[in-house]
Formats: sequence, structure tokens, C-alpha cells
Amino acid sequence: MKAKLRVVVVGLGGIGNRHAGIYQEDPLAELVGVCDLRKDRADAASVRLGVPAFSNAKEMFAKLKPDVCSVATGGYEYGSEHYEPTMQALEAGCHVLGEKPISNVIAEAEKMVAKARAKRRCYAINLNHRFTPASRLAKKWVTEGKLGDLLFINMSMWIKNPVESSPYFQLKALHPHTVDVMRYFCGDIEAVQCFATKAPGRKIWSTAHFSFRFKNGCVGGLTGSYDIERGHPMERCEVAGTRGRFVLDDMWREATLYPAGNLEKTVYTNPVFGGFRDFEDTFRDRLHSFLEQVAAGVAPAKIDGSGADGLAAQKVLQAAIESLTKGKIVRVR
Ligand SMILES: NC(=O)c1ccc[n+]([C@@H]2O[C@H](COP(=O)([O-])OP(=O)(O)OC[C@H]3O[C@@H](n4cnc5c(N)ncnc54)[C@H](O)[C@@H]3O)[C@@H](O)[C@H]2O)c1
Repeated sequence: MKAKLRVVVVGLGGIGNRHAGIYQEDPLAELVGVCDLRKDRADAASVRLGVPAFSNAKEMFAKLKPDVCSVATGGYEYGSEHYEPTMQALEAGCHVLGEKPISNVIAEAEKMVAKARAKRRCYAINLNHRFTPASRLAKKWVTEGKLGDLLFINMSMWIKNPVESSPYFQLKALHPHTVDVMRYFCGDIEAVQCFATKAPGRKIWSTAHFSFRFKNGCVGGLTGSYDIERGHPMERCEVAGTRGRFVLDDMWREATLYPAGNLEKTVYTNPVFGGFRDFEDTFRDRLHSFLEQVAAGVAPAKIDGSGADGLAAQKVLQAAIESLTKGKIVRVR
């Protein structure tokens, strides 16, 4: 039997604790350490998970020599803290799975992607929304030509997040997921136009709409919001081509294929037994996929939901912010 991958987690807020718990249940992983600058958080996770606690990531890497590190730090716009521990983990030779957004600063994201390339390590981002059986099936429909030539994509996602950290918080922190899903199905985005609004009582652009032109000629629309309480579904993705159209509800609940000119539709519904239990299973699926690819020796450039994908999404969002502030269409650079 192959040895399990030795895994550590840096950053022990709600999300880092979730990563750590999932690794502990994953047959490919052995959780060997946890780290947070905050001693109370590191100690609490250490007690809960039965692994040593650290407050200095560099020291943890030197002592434990892990194969894999999750970087689940946060910070300003949910992304300012990822750079330092990611660079340290890559320097120490770890494969890294970072939280989204890859960074709130494009230049730092570029350095992390370059570092992973130079060190020949796998670097991925937790773009968990498309790590579902329904999403993989929809992707198969696209690659098998069931949609024909792609024409348009419509995506929307809405949750409640009252944090007012920066005017562009919603654009930069929510939409790495949606832009990634759209790029997954339709490829690179070359131009963006963005409009946004502030919900009553809010100071930030808390709801936004984006129009995209893709490099393959496809067009798309994305609407997202940090203003809607949970309780009902939270996202929807529709992709249409010359031969058919699919709709994904919540990315994991249901995928429906509507073939053009044919009255019979195909529906995949999340199975009651053996399917996804809830949204948290997108994390399980995503973390397990990364472990599987690392264990199988997949080339860093072929990693699913890579750092390069995370960077590409963030560049689209940067162009959207420029569009919003200047009131014009912006090419993605
Ligand atoms: N993928 C998803 O669906 C999803 C959902 C929600 C949040 N997130 C992301 O998860 C990340 C974490 O979110 P959170 O709510 O748990 O954040 P948080 O701020 O509660 O926790 C981050 C922790 O990282 C620690 N930290 C920061 N820099 C560190 C360093 N250099 N070394 C060690 N520890 C360090 C902080 O002390 C803090 O305890 C964010 O980037 C957020 O965008 C992802």
C-alpha cells in the first residue's frame, strides 16, 4: 500500500478547521500538523484533531517536512494573508492547496504561480464549486459535443455576507468561484463590462452584474450578490450551444440537458444514497481530487483548479473593477 500524503494546514479559522477535519477523514492523507499565528486557534485545533500545533509556518515545514499544505488564511478582501505562507510552503517543497481568492493583489498571485512553477510543485486553489459529479457530467456533455458550438453562458450566485472590508470585496472574494465555473465550461474570457449596486444600508458594491466575451466567441452574463440570506439554492449555471443547453442547479443538486430539437431531456439528480450530502461535500471532493492528483504524480501544469486558474479568474475580476470604475468595456490582460 502506498504511504499516505503527510498534510498540514496553515490558518485555522472556520475554513482551515474544515480542511483539517476533511484531511483527517481522507484515506489518501495523514494530517500531521496545524498552524495559526493565534495561539488560541492553533491550540484548539491541536486538541480537537490530536496533532501538534505551531504558530510559525516555516518552523512547522522544517520540523514536519509535509508533502502537502493547505493555506486557509484570509485577511483583507479574504486574500491578503495567503502570500507569505504559500511562498514558505512552496520553498519548503510542499504541494500547496490555497484558499480563494488566490490573492487580493495580482502581482502577489503571479509570484506564487511563478514560484510553484520554479519549484515544480503542484499549486491549486480551492475552487470547490465545480468539484461535483453534476458539474463533471455537464463538462462531459460539452466535450462530447452534446451542446454543439458554444453560444452563451449565464451564471448567478448569491449569499449573505455583511462584511464591508473594501468597495470591491464582493467582486474579488465571491466571484473567483463563478468566474472559474464559467472558464471551466467556456474557456478564457477576453473582455468584461461590469455594473454594480449597493444594497440598502451598504457602503460596498454588494451586488454586481458582469458581461463577458470569451476567446472562443461565446458570450456570457454573471450576476452575484452578498445581500441574500441563505435558505434556498445559492447558484445556477446555464450553458447553451447550437445542439443543446444544460442547467446546473446549485452545481451539485441537479444537471439537466435539453437537446435542441428533441423533446426528451436528460436529468441527473444528486442521489439520495451515496451522493453529496450538502455543500460541504464540495470541499471534500475538491481536497480529495488534489490529493489524488498529487499522489498520482500529475504534472503541476495539469492540476485541476490550478493556481494559474485562480490567477486567471482574479485578472478577469480586476478588469471588471476597472470597468466598473471607468464605465467602459475592459480587455483582460
Ligand atoms: N472555498 C470556499 O467555499 C470558501 C468559503 C468561505 C471562505 N473561504 C476562504 O477561506 C479563507 C479563510 O476564511 P476564514 O473565514 O476561515 O478566515 P479567518 O480570518 O477566520 O482565519 C484565517 C486564520 O489564518 C491565520 N493566519 C493568517 N496569516 C497566517 C500565517 N502567516 N501563519 C499562520 N496563520 C495565519 C489567522 O490568524 C486566522 O486565524 C479566506 O481566504 C476565504 O476567502 C473559502
